[in-house]
Amino acid sequence: MTLLILLLEVIWIMAAFGGQHWTYEGPHGQHHWPASYPECGRNAQSPVNIQTDSVTFDPELLPLQPHGYDQPGTRPLELRNNGHTVQLSLPPTLHLEGLPQKYVAAQLHLHWGQKGSPKGSEHQINSEASAAELHIVHYDSDTYNSLSEAAQMPQGLAVLGILIEVGETKNPAYEHILSHLHEIRYKDQNTSVPPFNVRELLPPVLAHFFRYNGSLTTPPCYQSVLWTVFSRRAQISREQLEKLQETLFSTEEPSRLLVQNYRAPQPLNQRTIFASFIQAESSYTTGEMLSLGVGILVGCLCLLLAVYLIARKIRKKVLGDQKSVVFTSAPVTEA
Ligand SMILES: *[C@@H]1O[C@H](CO)[C@@H](O)[C@H](O)[C@H]1NC(C)=O
Ligand SMILES: *[C@@H]1O[C@H](CO)[C@@H](O)[C@H](O)[C@H]1NC(C)=O
Repeated sequence: MTLLILLLEVIWIMAAFGGQHWTYEGPHGQHHWPASYPECGRNAQSPVNIQTDSVTFDPELLPLQPHGYDQPGTRPLELRNNGHTVQLSLPPTLHLEGLPQKYVAAQLHLHWGQKGSPKGSEHQINSEASAAELHIVHYDSDTYNSLSEAAQMPQGLAVLGILIEVGETKNPAYEHILSHLHEIRYKDQNTSVPPFNVRELLPPVLAHFFRYNGSLTTPPCYQSVLWTVFSRRAQISREQLEKLQETLFSTEEPSRLLVQNYRAPQPLNQRTIFASFIQAESSYTTGEMLSLGVGILVGCLCLLLAVYLIARKIRKKVLGDQKSVVFTSAPVTEA
């Protein structure tokens, strides 16, 4: 009898702490999350696809200011492979201003795809995913005592989402994380990393961002996150992306690579996504700007050519008419 009670208690505790196994694909994959974690099936989930022609410009959004990011103390930071992602612990001296409350940092982690695939981010902009995404997780320390307490409360958390794309050069800031991955190849391994300038993981320009109410993107999917997704992307090299895609295992032995740990975009439902800026050419990537420029140039050239041809035709016609006038009038004057 006592054994049965004990067993029931263990089951209850496991359920209460969300001990249920989950993955991204397969029988415990994202489509099955709501069965074990009901919040994952609610109507304000993350990530979302940010459709830039339907966001609302909010001139009252304050600029987001990360404090203490460039000096995260002198103590080493813990880097861990938790089987779902690589996660770096952050001290509460890192905090955000420009939000309704003061939010202090707790951890950052990444989401990515698999080698050869251009997809890997969770948020999408105009239905386009980027190669990877960085999440920096903060909690409202004015109102709550801990991350786990805040994680269940509306707006208890503030997460920064940074889309990562492949660029030409190695990003030295990301190397502070990536160069340690081989020390934590298997699930539940951890290592310590010297503190570094966390600000440099962000895109250089922070002024352009999207803001909306959403959720954790992994079970238990609590709808407690005030999201900030930056419009500008951070860049890492192809080699750096491949290191992320090829080094870690989601298992305790080398059986399953830790890849494609991103959740599909969730329905926006009645939510509004606010933007800190007015949509203009600013949201184009360099590639799009370049092709736009080339397009305009080719368009102008075609127009010029058309104008030239028409002008030539008109001139010919006018000259032809004059000639015929001269021709027909010539005999008259001679006569
Ligand atoms: C690794 O994790 C264990 C258990 O959480 C902890 O005691 C240890 O200090 C951690 N090691 C490093 C290097 O962070
Ligand atoms: C988030 O939800 C709260 C409470 O409903 C609301 O006051 C706030 O304006 C919302 N923020 C955004 C960015 O939608």
